[in-house]
Amino acid sequence: MPETTMLLHPDIETVLLTEAAIQQRVRELGAAITADYAGERPVLLGILNGAMVFLTDLMRTIDLPLTMDLIALSSYGPCTSAQGAPSLLKPLITDIAGKHVLIVEDIVDSGASMRFALDYLRPFHPAGVKIAALLSKPSRRQVAIEVDYLGFEVPDLFVVGYGLDYAQQYRHLPYIGVLRREVYARRD
Ligand code: IMP
Ligand code: MG
Repeated sequence: MPETTMLLHPDIETVLLTEAAIQQRVRELGAAITADYAGERPVLLGILNGAMVFLTDLMRTIDLPLTMDLIALSSYGPCTSAQGAPSLLKPLITDIAGKHVLIVEDIVDSGASMRFALDYLRPFHPAGVKIAALLSKPSRRQVAIEVDYLGFEVPDLFVVGYGLDYAQQYRHLPYIGVLRREVYARRD
């Protein structure tokens, strides 16, 4: 697959994961999910807004009769670490009772958002809940979370692109890059 022709954004210090590396890893995750859920009809549950790009790529690599839904959790606002407890901004629409849910998330950082999502789903009595996350920052974890399908572990750096934002910017970049410190130093 050809790489998107896009110059390195001036606010990006370094590219941590290229478009080609991400696409390759997404295909591997899709193949693993297809094998593990054989015979099932999983519900892919994306967490808005960050998981949007990962979800739309991942779902097209899964060869199963899947459905999808989206929930939204409160986000950062214009700063680089979570402020306060997560809350629900958009609920589920799908009836997930007795269904196999695969949560799709951009990044597991402290783990608080994922813990909140898992607790939110439990009263709907899904048959099972697993987690697919493109990125994980294990060094920042405050809540133990087991990621079933992980794209990449990343160091404790603020990254953007491929759905991840800073102040709602940079989500459209096809790669994952480290944001220059001077971009957020004044606001954080
Ligand atoms: P957690 O609740 O601390 O695990 O944070 C999870 C959410 O924080 C993710 O869904 C992202 O939206 C956001 N987040 C965490 N780290 C980063 C980052 O490096 N760049 C952009 N967003 C991030
Ligand atoms: Mg997010």
